[in-house]
Amino acid sequence: MKKDLLGLEETSTEEIKFYLDTAETFKEILSRPIKKVPTLRGKTIVTLFYEPSTRTRMSFELAGKRMGADLSNISVSGSSIEKGESLKDTVRTIEAMGIDMIIIRHGKAGAPHLAAKTIKASVVNAGDGAHEHPTQGLLDLFTIQEKKRRIDGLNILIIGDIAHSRVARSDIWGITKMGGRVTVCGPPTLIPVEIEKMGVDISYSLDSILPQADVIYILRLQLERQKKGLFPSIQEYIDYYAITKERLARAKSDVLIMHPGPMNIGLEITEDVATSSHSVIEEQVLNGVAVRMAVLNYLLEEHSPLKTGNLFSKDLVSTAPMRRSE
Ligand code: NCD
Repeated sequence: MKKDLLGLEETSTEEIKFYLDTAETFKEILSRPIKKVPTLRGKTIVTLFYEPSTRTRMSFELAGKRMGADLSNISVSGSSIEKGESLKDTVRTIEAMGIDMIIIRHGKAGAPHLAAKTIKASVVNAGDGAHEHPTQGLLDLFTIQEKKRRIDGLNILIIGDIAHSRVARSDIWGITKMGGRVTVCGPPTLIPVEIEKMGVDISYSLDSILPQADVIYILRLQLERQKKGLFPSIQEYIDYYAITKERLARAKSDVLIMHPGPMNIGLEITEDVATSSHSVIEEQVLNGVAVRMAVLNYLLEEHSPLKTGNLFSKDLVSTAPMRRSE
């Protein structure tokens, strides 16, 4: 039985679809005047963040609270926790307090996996190094599906700092599993060649591929993670890869503009594009709460149809949170 969500690489297409379906139900709950269901009453969740975060942490926190769980936040400042051993100790100590789930963000790839092996409680990866950020991947899939009614067959263009992006990796796994086609685009120094093995196309010329895109997914230029000299200058990056009003005018008339946040406005995206009618960046934030509710619900819910193998039976309906709260 699955207890963790560590990456979309190891998540099946069936599980992804299940998360997206249940997130739809939770999104409906979020539109009610009282945005609360008792699904996780009595469960305790800890967020353990070794890296700064505003939106992801708050999104998990709200998701848990909206389902009645008790939450506790632990922030760890970078330096003392680099060693695997101390991460193990930390999660063991937290588990000893009787919690059900730890949500971990860590600067090193694989940290949540180590935690998941160490404890019996559920572990959710909220971003590990440049490896994966599965709930961001799911909320992006949810947003694309909600707006386009499908993912299958769409051309999704991911632009920018692929090398440092855990979001790009989770999105690539998720989109390709759902039948979408991904092209990654950016300066050669920000695109690792092995990314091709994930089944994506690579392009260094934004202007030539822009007109075919159904979705333009813009990544933040992660200046804090980059060694100096990965591209000649910020201005050059803007000239070749920023999504501006002029570039948007050359894209499909129904193209979606997405960004995981936080944005560097005026760098990878201009203000007018971020606030244009094509932009679903704010929707992504709201959908993040719904998708995380679906993830917490599935991992902490013993009788989830995916766990019992009854995915296609009526049980799917009976575990739907809306039903239970009525
Ligand atoms: C992303 C992250 O931290 O990986 N942001 C997020 O989850 N809101 C992307 C980023 O930092 O650029």
